[in-house]
Amino acid sequence: MSIPIRIAGIGFEVPETVITNDDLTKIIDTSDEWIKTRTGIERRHVLSGNESAVDIGIRAAEKAIKKSKIDVKEIDLIIAAASVEAHAYPSTACEVQAAIGAVNAACFDITAACSGLIYGLGIARAFIKSQFAKNVLIVATDAISRSLDWTDRTTCVLFGDGAGAMVLTISDDEQDDILAVDLKAEGHLGHFITMPIAGKNCPLVEPNDEEKMFVKMDGKEVYKYVVTKLPGYIEECVSKSGLKMNEIDYLVPHQANMRIIEALEKRLEFSPENVISNIKDYANTSAASIPIALVEAVESGKMKLPCSAILTGFGAGMTVGTAVVKLREGIV
Ligand code: ACO
Repeated sequence: MSIPIRIAGIGFEVPETVITNDDLTKIIDTSDEWIKTRTGIERRHVLSGNESAVDIGIRAAEKAIKKSKIDVKEIDLIIAAASVEAHAYPSTACEVQAAIGAVNAACFDITAACSGLIYGLGIARAFIKSQFAKNVLIVATDAISRSLDWTDRTTCVLFGDGAGAMVLTISDDEQDDILAVDLKAEGHLGHFITMPIAGKNCPLVEPNDEEKMFVKMDGKEVYKYVVTKLPGYIEECVSKSGLKMNEIDYLVPHQANMRIIEALEKRLEFSPENVISNIKDYANTSAASIPIALVEAVESGKMKLPCSAILTGFGAGMTVGTAVVKLREGIV
């Protein structure tokens, strides 16, 4: 018999510092009007000082665990979805483990860029269903601001920092909250969004790579890819869930561009009040954007629990992850 899974807690955290579109006009040739019209973004939170993606990830994790009411020592797996980390190892998952005291958890990181939370959800689900884990913490945290070229107006206006976390456990009432998960990757399109890390290094072999390592993105190609491919991928996942599109209460898409979100809304025939977006206040927080949007929507009363929802993320890789889930009262 398939083990039913409960989504037990969700939390998020963003750094305190806020940069508005007007602030950006002091360092690049742009305008509030251009950014708002093309993307829907008005402001974003960014890390400062010694604070890192791990720090906000820890706080998001603590909130999700508190909501889940699961003893932190009962968590047996931590998956961190993180692309911009202070260092490659120890992993973000290990650092979160040490900070929260999840002493019985196995830990690893995954790289699926903005699809990271949903990839994490798919992996967590597989671990629980195959009885390798009972209580899984997923932490999606990124500090993209630290890998942006702040002289490149085509990328630096688009992103913000943030963290989201989710706790999954075995359901004690037979309801499976994860109705379907579908993960896709199209590696041949990897050049659409890139962020190099280590370059040439050994002086005995070749000169050091001095080039700074920033996010580069072909925004037009990403835009075309997402609006062409994503609706079909979402429909495919919904068809596996046993629900019909019009039976699902909310659409919670990755927050990359308001125009992409509106295109999805139209194509999937959702009404605007059932499509969750807060890109205006956070910009694109990579893998954290879905939990940030979800928790805020519940807290503001836009999203009512219990409900069903489509969570869908897309990003570098190219990767796409979609899940059809049930969200119970009290998880936020
Ligand atoms: N301010 C003012 N002008 C700008 C800015 C800016 N910040 N950025 C670009 N422009 C200019 C361009 O130089 C160009 O000028 P030109 O016509 O003189 O050459 C003009 O504005 C139009 O630029 P486009 O690139 O055609 O603008 P577009 O309407 O395509 O919008 C955008 C660009 C917002 C990036 C859009 O393509 C987009 O959102 N793409 C999707 C991005 C995305 O979803 N990423 C998600 C994944 S991220 C991840 O996984 C890490």
